[in-house]
Amino acid sequence: MANTPSSSKPPSGPQAYRASVLHFVNDPAFHQQAYAWHEDGLLIIEQGKVVAVGDYVHLKAHLPQTVTVHDYRGKIILPGFIDTHVHYPQTDMIASPAPSLLPWLESYTFPTERKFGDPEHAVEVAHFFIDELLRCGTTTAMVYCTVHPESVDAFFSESEKRNLRMVAGKVMMDRYCPDFLQDTAERGVRESEALIKRWHKRGRQLYAITPRFAPTSSDAQMQLAGELARAYPDTYLQTHVAENIDEVAWAKSLYPKARSYLDVYDHFGMLRPRAMFGHCIWLDDADRARLAETQSAIAVCPTSNLFLGSGLFDFKHADAQQVALSLATDVGAGTSFSMLSTMNEAYKVASLGGTFLPALRMFYLATLGGARSMQLEGTVGNFIAGTEADFIVLDPTATPLLARRTAMTNSLEELLFTLALLGDDRTVAATYAAGRLVHQRQDRLQT
Ligand code: GUN
Ligand code: ZN
Repeated sequence: MANTPSSSKPPSGPQAYRASVLHFVNDPAFHQQAYAWHEDGLLIIEQGKVVAVGDYVHLKAHLPQTVTVHDYRGKIILPGFIDTHVHYPQTDMIASPAPSLLPWLESYTFPTERKFGDPEHAVEVAHFFIDELLRCGTTTAMVYCTVHPESVDAFFSESEKRNLRMVAGKVMMDRYCPDFLQDTAERGVRESEALIKRWHKRGRQLYAITPRFAPTSSDAQMQLAGELARAYPDTYLQTHVAENIDEVAWAKSLYPKARSYLDVYDHFGMLRPRAMFGHCIWLDDADRARLAETQSAIAVCPTSNLFLGSGLFDFKHADAQQVALSLATDVGAGTSFSMLSTMNEAYKVASLGGTFLPALRMFYLATLGGARSMQLEGTVGNFIAGTEADFIVLDPTATPLLARRTAMTNSLEELLFTLALLGDDRTVAATYAAGRLVHQRQDRLQT
């Protein structure tokens, strides 16, 4: 655990946290009363679950005298961020330049992923990766491992140790990649099924069937992956689609009968609740309609899309069909682990596409939007009583500039917008998972 006091055992008995508290109950793009804001608020938790949230003045009267009230006044408590598309094995190659997606995969990604056949290496990277997520306030992520089952065991073991709600899976790919990363249609499914049996719903861990993307899976692998998804309907499914123009053309040449790239996945029965499609830049309205109709979701990856020059996600057309949207870093093509930095870039991407993305919407997308996209509403993503107590404490005075700028804000929207545009890992003062402190920022040096 990074920068965390060694005494952070799971607290016994109820605990209360006093701060400004924000959480969402609906999507502010479509609902007037989408959030609750308690300027002087209290969050009460017990045994890793939320018991109550509300105004301090109202709730304090009902608090038993024995309850410890942790004082975070001046800070903001939010549900932990949810990153719906990220590659833990790519941690060590973040910020590796390439002209576009396909050369980037060849030059950096595949050689880096090769190392995860070594369980010791996988554990070391998984440990660092999870530290980094927690430092950035991300408590749930949908994670790609590599083709090696050992990489999945390493990731889930690290996540389980810290009692985090994580979703992850073994990459399946049986063609158009180096020999050292290839499985076969049969082996991919056999290994994935064994991992489902070992990890899915063990504690807080959830499994995602993970065909990397249609170009690196044969028809036979796609067929078997679709069958596996039907055999285990409560598992997740994650893949990439319509990220880059050359990739779209390649998918079309490999699957000439499909109406579109997304249609390839549809054909193999992969559009369904708990299916998460990364990127979705080069879609058309028929694709978006299918995503909405099948309750599939989109992981919007703005820092990655700008970095690789992939394109601009079209918020306007996605919202017109009310496709479930979430925000994601896509590290290592993404350039930051921070969901605040991700909001910053999402805002600019939307703006270039003629859409104004309010801060309230961005914070929704990074919390309840992610949970809904993963069918985890009621489990994580907000503070409705009974949800798992994953929460973060944001510090509006984390840097001299933030302190100066947030002091000038006149509304909640303005305050959140400032945090989204100027915030990063330094803004996260503390992170809690299932009620336990899992990251505490070291105090910055006073000058
Ligand atoms: N498409 C297939 N694999 C990948 C990957 O690892 N990262 C990104 N950004 N796109 C992909
Ligand atoms: Zn990705």
